[in-house]
Amino acid sequence: MPLRRTLLYLSRHPALRGWTETSPLARSLSSRFVAGSTLEEAIAVCIRLRAEGITTTLDYLGEHVKSPGEAQACRDMYLRMLHAMRAAAVEPNVSVKLSQFGIDISASECVANVELLVGKAAEVGGFVRIDMESSAYTERTLEIAARLHERYAACGVVIQSYLYRSGADVAKATAQGMRIRLCKGAYLESSSVAYETKAQVDHSYATLAGYLLSADRYPAIATHDERIIQTVRRFADRHGIGRDRFEFQMLYGIRRDLQKQLVDAGYRLRLYVPFGEAWYPYFMRRLAERPANLLFLARNLLKR
Ligand code: FDA
Repeated sequence: MPLRRTLLYLSRHPALRGWTETSPLARSLSSRFVAGSTLEEAIAVCIRLRAEGITTTLDYLGEHVKSPGEAQACRDMYLRMLHAMRAAAVEPNVSVKLSQFGIDISASECVANVELLVGKAAEVGGFVRIDMESSAYTERTLEIAARLHERYAACGVVIQSYLYRSGADVAKATAQGMRIRLCKGAYLESSSVAYETKAQVDHSYATLAGYLLSADRYPAIATHDERIIQTVRRFADRHGIGRDRFEFQMLYGIRRDLQKQLVDAGYRLRLYVPFGEAWYPYFMRRLAERPANLLFLARNLLKR
């Protein structure tokens, strides 16, 4: 736990970020979790995964932009992503962060940026998932997602099982008809808002997953946790919930063995495929999830 907290603290360190993202060595180490720097590279990964029976959601890496111009540039990249996915006959499905679309600068401009994207996704039969960031953003993110969802079915949101509030949020968002991706939560949170032990977070996850599966709004069960995946599979079987009524989701580069098992067993699986230059915070969150990844890093550094 202390190592996780240290890595999450460092994930927000601007100087370390600047140094790491410009280091060719660090870049090559990040390639385990990041599909490439360009949209073309990311699309090539989507096409390869499609051939393996896996669908994708593309994420253009970046968060906490500093100017309206930067937010608009991100929005424009996302519009290009929808177009490129469609042109490659890949389902146009993207994941965005509101801090990348300018929520810290102007809430109204941020909403306008996301609305343009969701409108385009609706037009091309695509989907926009609004990722969930730290708890400082939870209320605003849910509110904006609900507002957009009133106008477009083509958007959904993420709920984190580590937050105490998530039971109420899941009930509300489900009642609003929103499609939810359930994950455990990847940010540094205090015990005043979030469970601290893995057992508590997992228990909350299993409870919320059962609720979402029963509510039948095509939930995304986003985890690499084998025990939870088994629980979800058993729950779905017991309640006669078909394999087309939900999907599992995992992150690019994590538990490829488990990904293959699920696809072979006939489950739907979507991978979250990040690309771009601003990979440092994402990469550090992946290290924090499994500090054993530091050994993998060290081994690769020693090999050079
Ligand atoms: P847990 O961390 O308990 O890990 C279970 C097992 O999975 C580990 O024992 C290990 O085998 C494997 N594993 C997990 N992480 C690994 C890693 N980094 N490297 C190697 N192996 C690993 N979070 C958030 O706050 N907001 C969001 O919007 C999203 N979005 C999102 C989308 C998708 C598709 C996924 C899969 C996850 C997210 N997350 C997220 C991240 C999520 O909150 C969580 O941090 C990670 O999924 C890790 O938690 P697990 O559920 O895998 O369980």
